[in-house]
Amino acid sequence: MELGDPNRVLLLDEVMLGLCGEVQGKEVLDAGCGEGRFCRMLAARGARTTGIDPTATLIQTARARQPDGIFHEAAAEALPLADASMDLAVSYVALVDIPDFRAAIREMARVLRPGGRMVVANLNGFATATTKFWARDEDGNKLHWTMDNYMTERAARAEWADLSIINWHRPLSAYMRAFIGAGLTLEHFDEPMPKPEVLAAHPGMQDYRRMPHFCTMVWRRP
Ligand SMILES: C[S@@+](CC[C@H](N)C(=O)[O-])C[C@H]1O[C@@H](n2cnc3c(N)ncnc32)[C@H](O)[C@@H]1O
Repeated sequence: MELGDPNRVLLLDEVMLGLCGEVQGKEVLDAGCGEGRFCRMLAARGARTTGIDPTATLIQTARARQPDGIFHEAAAEALPLADASMDLAVSYVALVDIPDFRAAIREMARVLRPGGRMVVANLNGFATATTKFWARDEDGNKLHWTMDNYMTERAARAEWADLSIINWHRPLSAYMRAFIGAGLTLEHFDEPMPKPEVLAAHPGMQDYRRMPHFCTMVWRRP
């Protein structure tokens, strides 16, 4: 995170902050907060943030980096929070990491006050159903994105840098049914694209037009 993940810095941060809107004085949950980066960004805008993550080292780091923030070492499937206690719930590229995403979505809906919103960024099913990322010709040129068994929910190990994690693949319909089943109403859906000035400075991001890695959503608890 300290090196600046391009997906976040160049694409998702601005979109997610815009979707969160005015957060001054609001109670905001970040479910799957990692080392607390987005909590710090929201707190800098006046939010009262609560971050939860089951990974102990990440929560320790989040506490060290935001001593006045509230952080719980907990899973999103069983939030240690009261009903209707949050104005806003954020899930920033975390649902793909969560084993029981249906329970997590139900729990986030439970802790939202009526009228509260859930702001979500997640990896698209096209990304998580990949078999070998890009198919290439003999010169190494990208031909097309590879994916298969799109409708089959499954866990897959993803490895890069010195990390090895489980990413869950689910089709978009599985996520949408879970949000609708939790009683939420969809207010926004998008597959955000880099802005022209970002594309000009980072031509490699043209790939997003061929294969959009992320979707963003806003759901409201009626
Ligand atoms: C891709 S990281 C995103 C972290 C953070 N939201 C960010 O954008 O930097 C996914 C996070 O989900 C967390 N996670 C894994 N299982 C979880 C669960 N059951 N409930 C909540 N978070 C979970 C991981 O520990 C990790 O911090």
